[in-house]
Amino acid sequence: MGKTEGNLLVRGATVIRQGQREKSDVLVEDGKIAKIEAQISADGVDADVVEAEGLFLIPGVVDDQVHFRSPGLEHKEDLEHATRACAKGGVTSFLEMPNTNPTTTSVEALEAKLEMASSRCTVNYGFYIGATPDNVAELQKAKRTPGIKIFIGSSTGNLLVDDQKALETIFAETDLPICAHCEDESTIRENEAWIPPSSNIARHSQVRDHRAAMVATVRATELAVRHKHAFHVLHLSTAAEVDVVQAAKPYVTSEVCPHHLFFNVDDYPRLGSRIKMNPSIKNREDNIGLWKALCDGKIDVVATDHAPHTLEEKAKDYPECPSGLPAVENYLALMLNQVAKGLCSLEQVVDWMCAAPSRIWSLKNKGAIEVGNDADLVLVDLDLKRTILDSNQLTKSQWTPWHGETLTGWPVQTWVRGKCVYRYQGEEKEWVESEAIGTEIEFAR
Ligand code: DOR
Repeated sequence: MGKTEGNLLVRGATVIRQGQREKSDVLVEDGKIAKIEAQISADGVDADVVEAEGLFLIPGVVDDQVHFRSPGLEHKEDLEHATRACAKGGVTSFLEMPNTNPTTTSVEALEAKLEMASSRCTVNYGFYIGATPDNVAELQKAKRTPGIKIFIGSSTGNLLVDDQKALETIFAETDLPICAHCEDESTIRENEAWIPPSSNIARHSQVRDHRAAMVATVRATELAVRHKHAFHVLHLSTAAEVDVVQAAKPYVTSEVCPHHLFFNVDDYPRLGSRIKMNPSIKNREDNIGLWKALCDGKIDVVATDHAPHTLEEKAKDYPECPSGLPAVENYLALMLNQVAKGLCSLEQVVDWMCAAPSRIWSLKNKGAIEVGNDADLVLVDLDLKRTILDSNQLTKSQWTPWHGETLTGWPVQTWVRGKCVYRYQGEEKEWVESEAIGTEIEFAR
């Protein structure tokens, strides 16, 4: 009907806003939320009108930890596939990690990545700058970034800062918020040395054990508190780390990923290298403890650590098979399924996946359905059942550790600044935008 792009009227949905739910109509003009009222007439409105009775409208999800592999590792994933997968999964903004090739460890590399992303992303993008033992000058100069990423333990790629003096310098001499992969490299090496070699993948969780996670989290949070530096612990994997993070408030925030909530070492025989991750997956007690801590408000964020490798790479024997799994297109549904089971509320999911990451990383105009904010929105159907299959994944890697699982509760439509980027059309048919309409995320610092 020739409606102006970026104009939208969503009518009759239950809107999750300010930790509450209310049936409201939401009008979007020129990509921004313009009005939220009990009833907004569609008469004479120059906007696409979506009748959403029975559905829930939430802010677009902000995934603050992804590895999208561009540049340099694009046989595993690329920005086009990954951001279409985001649109399907209700993720409208992502913050991406620096372990690409080349690594994002200078302002020049950061700006090159931003330039590359500007013509390739269906959803909004931001990129961390990575720390090395000697790039503090670059970390001090970087502006167009959410913050600094430190690998305190090694993972995919060669980024690593485990030397205490180098860590001290980063916390003391930089201003940007810091986040870290907390697995202690010396502990990992000690474990490698005494645990007999084996091709049994369960060894991965023995080498990267509870102690490795705890030692690094204690080291990093101590630095954050002493230097009064905003610090975010990525992907908690053990229940015990929660107390350490709690004791370091208000400087320290934390997050957990679906694989650490839903998988444990008993799943290795069934899933093998599909759940080989760093930090490693741990025990059932950790799943339970992390879930409880999340629900009790002791963990701030749920993010994916989306980190695809090809199935061919994953098929190698342990220890050669790489660590990492894809998740952006399923993680909102995994959490909505918890809502369907009565284990948490949709309001909590919105806090963990939209409001908290926007607050922690100071995203401008995102993370909440409020007048003036960007109209990054997701319509969810809490009753829709769909089965996750390798064959219906949009990630370039074309597999998922949740293959065969049926979940209740799915995103059915996603908008980025008022433009539809994903629509579920029923009976497993779906439409996804392929144009690069995502824009650079701005930070309110
Ligand atoms: O298992 C992982 N793989 N953990 C990380 O933190 C990095 C990731 C990757 O990039 O493959």
